[in-house]
Amino acid sequence: MNPIERYAPLVADTDAFFAACERPLPSVVRVNTIKATVERVTDALDEEGVGYESIEWNDELLTFDERGPGTTWPYFHGWLHGQEEVSALPAMILDPQPGETVWDACGAPGSKTTQLSAMMDDTGIVIGNDNNLGRLSALRHNAERLGVTNLMVTKQDGRNFSLNGFGFDEFDRALVDAPCSCEGTVRKNPTTLEQWTLNHVHSVAAIQKGILSRAVQATKPGGVVVYSTCTFAPEENEAVIDHVLETEDCEVVAFDCPLDSVPGVTEWEDDTYDSSVTKTHRIYPHLNDTGGFYCAKLEVTK
Ligand SMILES: C[S@@+](CC[C@H](N)C(=O)[O-])C[C@H]1O[C@@H](n2cnc3c(N)ncnc32)[C@H](O)[C@@H]1O
Repeated sequence: MNPIERYAPLVADTDAFFAACERPLPSVVRVNTIKATVERVTDALDEEGVGYESIEWNDELLTFDERGPGTTWPYFHGWLHGQEEVSALPAMILDPQPGETVWDACGAPGSKTTQLSAMMDDTGIVIGNDNNLGRLSALRHNAERLGVTNLMVTKQDGRNFSLNGFGFDEFDRALVDAPCSCEGTVRKNPTTLEQWTLNHVHSVAAIQKGILSRAVQATKPGGVVVYSTCTFAPEENEAVIDHVLETEDCEVVAFDCPLDSVPGVTEWEDDTYDSSVTKTHRIYPHLNDTGGFYCAKLEVTK
């Protein structure tokens, strides 16, 4: 069975859902406001005769018509970064402010880390962490190409991240863009589901719970933690939120999702979850012609 089919009971229009999972993904870029403005980029693209369209909910995102962004001058200059539309959501929901101290717990290869830096006007501190050295090289490369200077790169296991030696002991905000079973990336990488097993879903859920717990612990009272995955499995989404609500000092906060979404589910197979997970958002590929995604916003209450 195609693992995606297990989610049919959660989706209203299953035909549209399955059909969207088969289609390739549009090519989207984010304007890197550390080096350029949207106007400067669109002027340059117009001069090159490259076709693009602005994305309604975020004018820093452009969909390319045909030509890949990597062959354009604005990309060469680091004015653009290839980033899927839905992947721009978590940083926007985290809403980091200039001068703050922000932890990106699972940062590589850096799409969201560099977006956080840009949103902070490249001020304050972003700690871009990951536990995978190869992927951290990609993060560093992307950060350098995009001209990011407020970034400290760390290689730690997010589950027991230590702040020793940093000179501060808590973050203003934290992003956990967690490792996951990646079911929602099937449009970008059709072979993803060949590796799928329920055992992997359960083992990665345990890692997600550990990283998200640490993010709540390491964030100041009243601070914000955003949790996101690119998968549909409730075991990796609502169940993870339900777990931290039980074990850590935090609550789910409602947010306006600029993309069409449906609320998180409170029941899945034999499990039930805290009713506040309905304030989290499931984004299915057919709703906005994007990848699949899940996003939750937490406020630290300790
Ligand atoms: C969804 S990807 C992150 C994508 C990244 N946020 C971006 O937008 O470019 C998840 C990342 O989690 C990292 N990871 C897996 N286990 C981890 C752990 N225990 N601690 C920290 N990072 C971990 C993986 O290496 C992977 O790079």
